[in-house]
Formats: sequence, C-alpha cells, structure tokens
Amino acid sequence: MTRTVYYTATTLDGFLADPDDSLAWLMRQDLDEEGPQNYGAFIAGIGALVMGSTTYEWVLDHLGATGEAWSYAQPTWVMTTRELAVPEGADVRFARGDVRDLQAELAAAAGDLDVWVVGGGDLAGQYADAGLLDEVIVSIAPVVLGAGRPLLPRRLDLRLEETSRNGAFVTARYSIDGVLLEDRT
Ligand SMILES: NC(=O)c1ccc[n+]([C@@H]2O[C@H](COP(=O)([O-])OP(=O)(O)OC[C@H]3O[C@@H](n4cnc5c(N)ncnc54)[C@H](OP(=O)(O)O)[C@@H]3O)[C@@H](O)[C@H]2O)c1
Repeated sequence: MTRTVYYTATTLDGFLADPDDSLAWLMRQDLDEEGPQNYGAFIAGIGALVMGSTTYEWVLDHLGATGEAWSYAQPTWVMTTRELAVPEGADVRFARGDVRDLQAELAAAAGDLDVWVVGGGDLAGQYADAGLLDEVIVSIAPVVLGAGRPLLPRRLDLRLEETSRNGAFVTARYSIDGVLLEDRT
C-alpha cells in the first residue's frame, strides 16, 4: 500500500534551511551515498512527489547552477497559488488548497510505490493535519542554525522505528501516531 513519507535533512535544532533558504550547511557534510537511509535506495521506492513552491524554486535555482535539466523521473506536484515555470521535459503539475483533494491522484500516480513529501515543513504539517502522513525520515546534520525554515511546525507524537549513522548524520525513521497532541490534553 502506498505510504506518504516526509524524507529530509535537518539541522540538530530542527531547520530545513537557513533564514535565506540556503542549504550550504547541508552540502558541506560528510555523507556515504551507499550508507543507511541513502537517497538512491529511498528514491527507488518513490512513485510521486509533492513539494511547496519555495522548495521547487530552490530546486530550479540549483539546477541552473549544475546544468541539469530536472532531477526527478516521477510525476511531481508543486503546491502553489502562483504561475511558475516548468523545466523542459519535466513532469511537474501544480495544485493548491487542501492536500486531501490531491491524495487520490498522488496515490494513483505512485502505484505500488510511495509518495514523497519533499517539504517544506508546513506542507508536511498539512499532511499530518489531514491524517495523511505515514512516516518521517530525517538525516540530522551536526549543525545548529538558531533560526531558519522549520522541519515540522506542529505538535505531534511520533514513534521511533529505526536509527543509524551515515557519515556526519544521525538518521532516524519515525511512524506517525496519527493523533495531534492537542487532542490528548
Ligand atoms: N533540508 C532539506 O533537505 C530540505 C528539504 C526540503 C526543503 N528544503 C528547503 O526548506 C525551505 C522550505 O521552505 P518553506 O518551508 O518556506 O516552504 P515550501 O513548503 O517549500 O513552500 C511554501 C509555499 O508553498 C506554497 N504552498 C504551500 N502549501 C500550499 C497549499 N496547500 N496550497 C497552495 N500553495 C501552497 C505557498 O506559496 P505560493 O502560493 O506563494 O507559491 C507557500 O508559501 C526551502 O528553502 C527549501 O529549499 C530543504
């Protein structure tokens, strides 16, 4: 069955990017590309992606720097209220509003594989709010930034399923309890 998985790198203090959307703190870390929780093994199990527009624009800017056309073979949905460009040959689709309205389409596109919520944190939170988020998989870099784009700005209970080390990162996989903390207090 298709799972919806938030897979990302984060700082130790829970930021996806610095306040200027820079990932320089991430790019300089030691990483074993064949090691635990590696991207290659993860993306092989993904049938569809969904991301927020800031993340999409970061990917587009980054592609410009590396000369790549587009990073993903899978259909990718970008949540936005704006009209944004699509790189040549990329299967990028746009959606807005309640993430529940998109879920049947995403799951159909994913087939037997999983859906990757790429980020940002609030979008992952929208999936959690809707009860649609199954797993959070994080690679925690040995960096604190003090401020930036939050990992998952919600109050949630998670269940730790697995931990490992990859290079400089602590990696952890959590399942979602499915109950907002507010519901319990
Ligand atoms: N560390 C990592 O591995 C990692 C992973 C992912 C992202 N990142 C970085 O983290 C930062 C994330 O930024 P972020 O948290 O600000 O945002 P984001 O989720 O990438 O983008 C937020 C924007 O997406 C649009 N959006 C989100 N939900 C929507 C909805 N339901 N309907 C319509 N539009 C919606 C809105 O913009 P508009 O409507 O104005 O378009 C919103 O301002 C970026 O710098 C990204 O590059 C890092």
